[in-house]
Amino acid sequence: MKISVIGAGNVGATCAHILASKGFAQEVVLVDILEGIPQGKGLDMWEAAPVAGSDTFVSGSNDYAPTAGSDIVVITAGLARKPGMTREDLLAKNTEIVKDVTSNVAKHSPNSILIIISNPLDTMTYVAYKVSGFPHQRVMGMAGILDTARYRSFIAMELKMSVEDISAVVLGGHGDTMVPFPRLTTVGGVPLTDLLPKERIDAIVERTRKGGIEIVNFLKTGSAYYAPAAAAAQMCESIALNKRRVLPCACWLTGEYGLRDLFMGVPAVLGTKGVEKVLEINFSPEEKEAFMKSSEAIRKTMNEAKL
Ligand code: APR
Repeated sequence: MKISVIGAGNVGATCAHILASKGFAQEVVLVDILEGIPQGKGLDMWEAAPVAGSDTFVSGSNDYAPTAGSDIVVITAGLARKPGMTREDLLAKNTEIVKDVTSNVAKHSPNSILIIISNPLDTMTYVAYKVSGFPHQRVMGMAGILDTARYRSFIAMELKMSVEDISAVVLGGHGDTMVPFPRLTTVGGVPLTDLLPKERIDAIVERTRKGGIEIVNFLKTGSAYYAPAAAAAQMCESIALNKRRVLPCACWLTGEYGLRDLFMGVPAVLGTKGVEKVLEINFSPEEKEAFMKSSEAIRKTMNEAKL
């Protein structure tokens, strides 16, 4: 298992580090346009391997030759948000970056599975799909695991119970229109709606929707990276070990939920072939309305990308 991570900034380097610590890949290659950065970070991570007890070999490069034959490529290259910016403000610049990165990746690793993290997420995943020409099962975006993790972490804080026992799903686009599902959220099998009053749940849902900007406003110089990187590493693990975990990811829809021809966050089975199945939920009328509204927001940004 060879995994390349493109973009050796906050998200990319953190993701490579998590992958190296987990140890299921033989090799992780970091790529960035900044001279010396991927090489330095890669070598530093490899030097941590004896202490971490992992044999995953990490290296870095400014070109794509060392990534050749990757099984999975995680694309994190691009600008990150600063306070006052929406993810959509990154569209023009990140479209150019993701185009450039994807064409290089597709040339060197034509059989790879692509996981996109660059924002605006759903549209950048679409850019990678179009430019790579890969089957849609091999192109996906990381967002739903992150949004769900934020939601679960807020519930755990509120209830003072373990994050591990909070089972939940947040779907739709990776933006203000994302759709958390309190009806489907359970804590050790107990419905969340039996444990918290509606106004507390609504406040958690709202905080989840704004989870990204909350971090940006703290950091000021960039956006979140620990949780996004951990989420992408979980997707890599499910694919690499064929765990077939059911994880919310941005997948290409071909009629599921009555939608087609867009990437959107839905529950997906991730295995060695990539997205092996998209699971459909029977929505309530309000849930359906929120999901459809989210799909419209994604289409608007997709159209603005003018591919
Ligand atoms: N090829 C390779 N790397 C590139 C390219 C390119 N064409 N263009 C930019 N990069 C690199 C930058 O040099 C930088 O090291 O991408 C890296 C981005 O790192 P950060 O600025 O630290 O941003 P990060 O926080 O990692 O976010 C990256 O993920 O979550 C999203 O919105 C976020 O779009 C952003 C992306």
